[in-house]
Amino acid sequence: MSFRSRVIGCGAYLPERIVSNAELARRLDTSDEWIVQRTGIRQRHVAAPGELTSDLAVHAAERALAAAGLSGADLDLIVLATATPDNTFPATATKVQSRLGMTEGCAFDVQAVCSGFIYALATADNFIRCGQARRALVIGAETFSRILDWEDRGTCVLFGDGAGAIVLASHRDEGGGAPERGVLSTHLHADGRHHDILYVDGGPSTTGSCGFLRMEGKEVFRHAVHRLAEVVDEALSANGLAARDLDWLVPHQANRRIIDSMGRKLDLPAEKVVVTIDRHANTSAASVPLALAEAVGDGRIKPGHLVLMEAMGGGLTWGAALVRW
Ligand code: ACO
Repeated sequence: MSFRSRVIGCGAYLPERIVSNAELARRLDTSDEWIVQRTGIRQRHVAAPGELTSDLAVHAAERALAAAGLSGADLDLIVLATATPDNTFPATATKVQSRLGMTEGCAFDVQAVCSGFIYALATADNFIRCGQARRALVIGAETFSRILDWEDRGTCVLFGDGAGAIVLASHRDEGGGAPERGVLSTHLHADGRHHDILYVDGGPSTTGSCGFLRMEGKEVFRHAVHRLAEVVDEALSANGLAARDLDWLVPHQANRRIIDSMGRKLDLPAEKVVVTIDRHANTSAASVPLALAEAVGDGRIKPGHLVLMEAMGGGLTWGAALVRW
């Protein structure tokens, strides 16, 4: 007997305050035109003072649980992806656990920056496949506004805050017959030789303070296009599928040009690619579940659809997940 995980609920949350490109252009040497042309970003949401990553995560989690018809007490696993935890420790997942009323099972954070949600999904899926969890909450939540150097126009215009979550439930995999619904496969990679092209210049063991995000944008862009193309091929061929079988591509939202290049590579019409970067900017680990929640909520992603998610982030880390919804 083997198990497979199915997505049974999705939810998302964005902080109330919206910062437009025009607002940034009033205090920085930048313009709406430059930001839109280079990135596709028009605005981003920014958490209020005192609003923490755990607050965003709890809102998204509550919506995902409501969509699944479950409460926190029904869960036995929380995997929370974030690069902006509330504190150095404990894991933000444990704060979320207590606020959701979940007292058993386990809860921990995963740190893979923008690939974090794919890493967290793969982790939870493997717990379920081996029978160690039955109902898992997978969250991507970030407050990148707190680690941005707001004087650095090369990075601060690119990111936003938000959270997204999905609930996974264990189903017995019958094998054979009609294509099974659920997580078909996940594919994770890292290449630490490039850890210094996208990093935060602080942390408990280096400076003792939190630090600011630093990025060699062009280099990251070059790796992203190449590595994402590879991992997408890997996910499709592992399942004997082709790009034409896909109903939806839900990519990490880092740059519109990277998203468009992936759509072209897969020969997918633009309507099959879920895009939120214009409104959310890059929300790191939250971007994929935010995009998923939007496309499920408005009825684009339907049961039985084949959905491919992919992301690349600091580390470098990258990965993909193929799900029959
Ligand atoms: N407004 C106006 N001008 C700007 C801005 C700005 N906000 N930022 C940079 N510029 C200027 C630069 O100073 C430079 O000027 P110069 O030619 O006089 O020196 C010029 O614009 C071009 O800068 P580049 O950095 O070469 O611009 P590029 O076309 O590479 O775009 C960008 C930059 C948008 C950052 C792009 O490289 C990118 O998206 N990279 C990938 C980011 C990414 O994918 N991250 C994913 C992971 S994120 C994570 O894991 C946290």
